[in-house]
Amino acid sequence: MGAGRAVLLVLGLAVDIVALGGAPRPATAAPPTLRELAAARGIRIGAAISSAATLGDPTYAQVLSSEFDIAVSENQMKWGLIHPAPATYDYVDPDAQVAFAQAHGMAFRGHNLAWHNQNPAWLLAGPFTRDERIQQLRDHIHTVVGHYAGQLSEWDVVNEAFDGLADPAHDPWSSQIGFPDYLDVAFTAAHEADPSAKLFYNDYLIEAPGPRFDQVLALVAGLKARGVPIHGVGFQAHQGARPCDASCANDALTNMLRLHALGLEVAITELDVAVQLPATPAKLDEQASVYRALLQACLLAPNCHTFVMWGFTDTYSWIPALRPGYGAALPFDEQYQPKPAYAAMADTLANPPGPPSCAAYRTQPEAQAAFASGILGAPLLDPDGNGVACESLPVPTTVPVPSVVPAFTG
Ligand code: G3I
Repeated sequence: MGAGRAVLLVLGLAVDIVALGGAPRPATAAPPTLRELAAARGIRIGAAISSAATLGDPTYAQVLSSEFDIAVSENQMKWGLIHPAPATYDYVDPDAQVAFAQAHGMAFRGHNLAWHNQNPAWLLAGPFTRDERIQQLRDHIHTVVGHYAGQLSEWDVVNEAFDGLADPAHDPWSSQIGFPDYLDVAFTAAHEADPSAKLFYNDYLIEAPGPRFDQVLALVAGLKARGVPIHGVGFQAHQGARPCDASCANDALTNMLRLHALGLEVAITELDVAVQLPATPAKLDEQASVYRALLQACLLAPNCHTFVMWGFTDTYSWIPALRPGYGAALPFDEQYQPKPAYAAMADTLANPPGPPSCAAYRTQPEAQAAFASGILGAPLLDPDGNGVACESLPVPTTVPVPSVVPAFTG
């Protein structure tokens, strides 16, 4: 115990030690919340709500509503819960979640309308003809999206289509309507039911270039080419803790810009970063570097306006139950204390990254296309801070804008 503190105890005074100096201590302003910082950067930052019951926990509700300005139902809008019987729709829990968001000035994403998982038993029974499947899908989407018309800013219309393609026993859509035809049906019905909602295709492990992303790019390029009303791609971003540097951000940014070239938005929709338990300070720092990199990419991309985590407190994460041995994946711990991931996101929002370097401009087609179209702020002057403007460097005579990818043919 320090001497100053001992004196106070002896005197029995309920005053702060600083006040003994005479001048009143200025009230310390609370640091800005993530939602305040994100709003200043023109993006929404959010979290999945794990159930309606959790909203009854005052701490959960307070942190959710003060730190985030967009929410999503982790499970409650999926077929199995919202449409448990052919003629039964259950809106009790999702309505409570949407009402909470509205009461706190938060936007809301819908998740999801067609998936191979968490479907009700009645939907998987049959037999149903192809026409009946199309009617089921259209009726469900018209009903659910119609119920929330004008209230939800975004919908994940189709989730993980390639997994569904590989799992016909649980995916009535690809197996009976056909792939990618059912996506055309689903997006069209969603747009009919709520023309104001932005409609997303949502998938995982697409935060870095590779064959999985190429497959998704081909799929959504096909949708665009056919005039299907799709507005964006959701990057789920279920990641693992690892040391991330600028290359992680550049990877994600590259994919975001490739979608921008197709006229599509991107959203980070389900970010969490699993740690192999037990979590240590070093692992949590690595985890923070992943959160930072993905947020940097979103801030740099002109087409990323939504950054959502799959929960916010480790108390209610899906990971320990479904990935034994892993957890601690979210930015608040089980006592709602902010972790290094929280500090990394706050710092990134307060000190956003600059545009890609001149080196990227000269070597990466996506960066060249972005500079050329002015979306990263033309004219770009001296982004490397070395007195050299990109414009004075050798530039490609033709700017290779990523081409539209042909429709996926299976
Ligand atoms: O509701 C029942 C409960 O009645 C029962 O007692 C309990 C026993 O296990 O299970 C409960 O259902 C669980 C449900 O979550 C609600 O908690 C299911 O077993 C469990 O499988 C289900 O897991 C969800 C998972 O999707 C299903 O695939 C997770 O909560 C949810 O976070 C997860 O979310 C998905 C996204 O929708 C799509 N992207 C991947 C992401 C993570 O897997």
